[in-house]
Amino acid sequence: MDRDNQLKEAPSSLVDPFGRTIDYLRLSVTDRCNLRCTYCMAEDMTFLPRQQILSLEELRDLALAFVELGIKKIRLTGGEPLVRRDIIKLVRSISNINGLEEITMTTNGMLLPKMAQQLRQAGLARLNISVDSLKPTKFREMTRNGDLSLWYEGIVAAKKANFTKIKLNAVVLAGFNDDEVIDLAHFAVSNEMDISFIEEMPLGSMSTHDRSKTQVSSANIREKLETKFHLIDSVETTGGPSRYSNVVGSTSKIGFISPMSNNFCESCNRVRMTAEGRLLLCLGNEHSADLRSVMRSHPGDQDLLKNEISKALKSKPERHYFDPNKIDIVRFMNMTGG
Ligand code: GTP
Ligand code: 5AD
Ligand code: SF4
Repeated sequence: MDRDNQLKEAPSSLVDPFGRTIDYLRLSVTDRCNLRCTYCMAEDMTFLPRQQILSLEELRDLALAFVELGIKKIRLTGGEPLVRRDIIKLVRSISNINGLEEITMTTNGMLLPKMAQQLRQAGLARLNISVDSLKPTKFREMTRNGDLSLWYEGIVAAKKANFTKIKLNAVVLAGFNDDEVIDLAHFAVSNEMDISFIEEMPLGSMSTHDRSKTQVSSANIREKLETKFHLIDSVETTGGPSRYSNVVGSTSKIGFISPMSNNFCESCNRVRMTAEGRLLLCLGNEHSADLRSVMRSHPGDQDLLKNEISKALKSKPERHYFDPNKIDIVRFMNMTGG
């Protein structure tokens, strides 16, 4: 066999023990955030000291190692990725990596009025923007300090910057925003954006609400939406966990992310890096590999880094088990990276 064929047939190094190919990395660049969403964080949070967070160079080295191992899509997350100093520089350096097909970001949108244009120019293609309410008071309540008019300015700036696609993300909580799913979908459709509705996961314990009482299933959300929209299931995928339906008569898709009611782990294609350099093999399990210590004890040794990543993949769990009555995962979402 000639060398080219050998390369084509060589298995990707990132295949886990269950035969799943990992080609999507969620890379958290900070655990800090300018909001305090009630389902995501406690009001009073202690954030990591600066020296424990990966540097820009470490983030870029990691991204390069992952791409060389077969990662095709990198999503930058937080906390809130836009509060990270030099984020534009990081986007630019990662988007220049050969072999990477897409770099995207999940943001709360509050800093987009200032940064949307620069992000687009730095190479960011798509953008996922979180929003849980379109009522100013409810928005403030759910984010603990967010200003909806600033969020809206962010949307205007993102539209103006011409991202190829913008997707909204809404976590739906009974008694908080479950009366708004139709309004949120209308907003997305009338602005030619997609929207995903997310079931709340029990990550970290909350003072504001009892997670066992705020659960709303995707099936329930869909039933509400179908009173106003004609939805047709789509086979299209963005490589994430959302299952999409087309909204007839529009260019928008409505997605359902159902970590509680409908396990999507069978087709899991992703791993995450926390801001402090831990490789998390699964959002719903605590097991992780400390890549920061590998990079800091052997700076610049990309082969060692790649070996450690491949080794860690062998312990990727088969699936997550969430129970809203039990907090098994003590990590809050901002520690995990979205
Ligand atoms: P696209 O590239 O647009 O498909 O994005 P995505 O859906 O992969 O990313 P996004 O940041 O929009 O993810 C939305 C939410 O889905 C996250 O904030 C999580 O709540 C949830 N989610 C994403 N990946 C996983 C996962 O591997 N496991 C679980 N349980 N939830 C996930
Ligand atoms: N359950 C589900 N989604 C969550 N997010 C944050 N915390 C949770 C949770 N407990 C989502 C936000 C945003 C991304 C950063 O993570 O809605 O889309
Ligand atoms: Fe910040 Fe996003 Fe968590 Fe809200 S969900 S507190 S915006 S990281």
